[in-house]
Amino acid sequence: MTDAYKIVNHEYDIVVVGAGGAGLRATFGMAAKGLKTACITKVFPTRSHTVAAQGGMSAALGNMGPDDWRWHMYDTIKGSDWLGDQDAIEYMCREAAPSVIELEHQGVPFSRTEEGKIYQRPFGGMTTNYGEGTAQRTCAAADRTGHAILHTLYQQSLKFDAEFFIEYFAFDLIMDGDVCRGVMAWNLEDGIIHRFRAHQVVLATGGYGRAYFSATSAHTCTGDGNGMVLRAGIPLQDMEFTQFHPTGIYGSGCLITEGVRGEGGYLTNSEGERFMERYAPSAKDLASRDVVSRAMTMEINEGRGIGEEKDHIQLHLEHLGSDVINERLPGIAESAEIFAGVDVTKQPIPVIPTVHYNMGGIQTNYKGQVVTLKNGDPDCIVEGLMAIGEAGCVSVHGANRLGSNSLLDLIVFGRASANFCAENIKPNSPHKKLINAGDESLSRIDNLRQNNGSIKTAEIRDNMQRTLQKDAAVFRSGKTLERGINKMSEIWDSFPDVKIDDKGMVWNTDLVETLELDNLLRCAMVSIHSAYNREESRGAHAREDFPDRDDENWMKHTLSTLNNDGSVSFEYRPVHMYTLTDDVDVFPPKKRVY
Ligand code: FUM
Repeated sequence: MTDAYKIVNHEYDIVVVGAGGAGLRATFGMAAKGLKTACITKVFPTRSHTVAAQGGMSAALGNMGPDDWRWHMYDTIKGSDWLGDQDAIEYMCREAAPSVIELEHQGVPFSRTEEGKIYQRPFGGMTTNYGEGTAQRTCAAADRTGHAILHTLYQQSLKFDAEFFIEYFAFDLIMDGDVCRGVMAWNLEDGIIHRFRAHQVVLATGGYGRAYFSATSAHTCTGDGNGMVLRAGIPLQDMEFTQFHPTGIYGSGCLITEGVRGEGGYLTNSEGERFMERYAPSAKDLASRDVVSRAMTMEINEGRGIGEEKDHIQLHLEHLGSDVINERLPGIAESAEIFAGVDVTKQPIPVIPTVHYNMGGIQTNYKGQVVTLKNGDPDCIVEGLMAIGEAGCVSVHGANRLGSNSLLDLIVFGRASANFCAENIKPNSPHKKLINAGDESLSRIDNLRQNNGSIKTAEIRDNMQRTLQKDAAVFRSGKTLERGINKMSEIWDSFPDVKIDDKGMVWNTDLVETLELDNLLRCAMVSIHSAYNREESRGAHAREDFPDRDDENWMKHTLSTLNNDGSVSFEYRPVHMYTLTDDVDVFPPKKRVY
């Protein structure tokens, strides 16, 4: 097969796939430590989805009131609905302050307090003193924090000797038995295939929000790393947990940051009632996202939605005044104007819970190494493979992520993966010889490209997105999920009949979208099957037929493997209920790992 395509071979110490916040932090961290590092990205780095992150990055700096990383750790464990791995959560919350200070020194233009310190705003679920008060913990650059961070990270990457392969589509891992040896990629510009050998492949490919019809995620968020991992026969973890952000703009799904509510914004129903006071009397509009999204959905379901269809809610910030809006929320004022035709100084924004984040993904330890269950060992390392950011599931978010813990996760674990590689890989060490590496993957691409099917990629994608939107929604039940699984099975079976018009290799967007659809379909299948399988409600997974959390049977991570016929098999890993060090005793029992 490889004879039919021209292949360019490369050897690197590390290949990072993806150039969002996690990918770039890892890339320049590795390059700065002298490792020969390549970064493969399907979009120009500063167009990666991190650019859309608005509200900020959490870190217990204590710039705007008392704070402590242990309080942050407590909030994160509680927010995860006790499904988060506590060793990894401890690591993230401890490393938050040094990571954010590093970013400041690297040049991120954070907003400032009067005294010139980094500005921090309140965010949902972030408390002081183990739940007593409201913490101001989210470090912000107005409402464009992701934009500020991403540009700084790219500038830093250019300072070091990392090599970028931009507008290259990575399509499969090169596996040698259980060991990952590299990755195959396609240069969209000239159509040439590239085979990258590496001692570690680091997947930083983001989430798969576009499996749904309405998502805050960019259209590029197609679960490419997750798809590669499933094709390699490695399971994914906790794919039933999909986060709905309470405030996507009604109609377009465009994100309106939780920072709006952090600055004093609030939600109302058709009766003008601030209904969150009923659902969460103490945290109100700043309750965690799962709570707010469910409350909004219940208001709509009970006939108190806004508009002719009574199908959305209003978000008010008129009372904040134009000075606050212009200084701290200029981006969302612009988005509301463009996507909802609303002047936020005078009118509320129409909003609806919208798919925002995938808690599940490629299971890793807190160093970024991919782990799996093998021969009874739940933490068995998959050699040569790492995953970070939304693609990964280090499980710091468990069943539900707190707002502003995502930018933190990207930076902390991007940095951790660089540190791990620097400590464990000798620069320029030789690679093992491989025969016909990547042949099977090339056949897959070739078959798709030559396929003379009858259904357009966009039609299959639309069927999938509408199915998940309807049947794996904020509230799900055995009945809706079963209906969704049946529909998804038909959609899965329709994929071999996909029709690709463009038979070329140069900028063949038809083929790119089909490869992305392949990845999305795999994510969608394991996601909806996992949701059906988990018979309890926890975090973002709200089962109407199993409304309670069931710690006895379900305090465990789901591992889902996708079989060729579209069926899904399940295994489980225990939640890490132990901390890393002696400094915390948040939730017993405790076991020290060093
Ligand atoms: O609402 C927001 O600004 C989103 C932040 C996040 O998801 O962490």
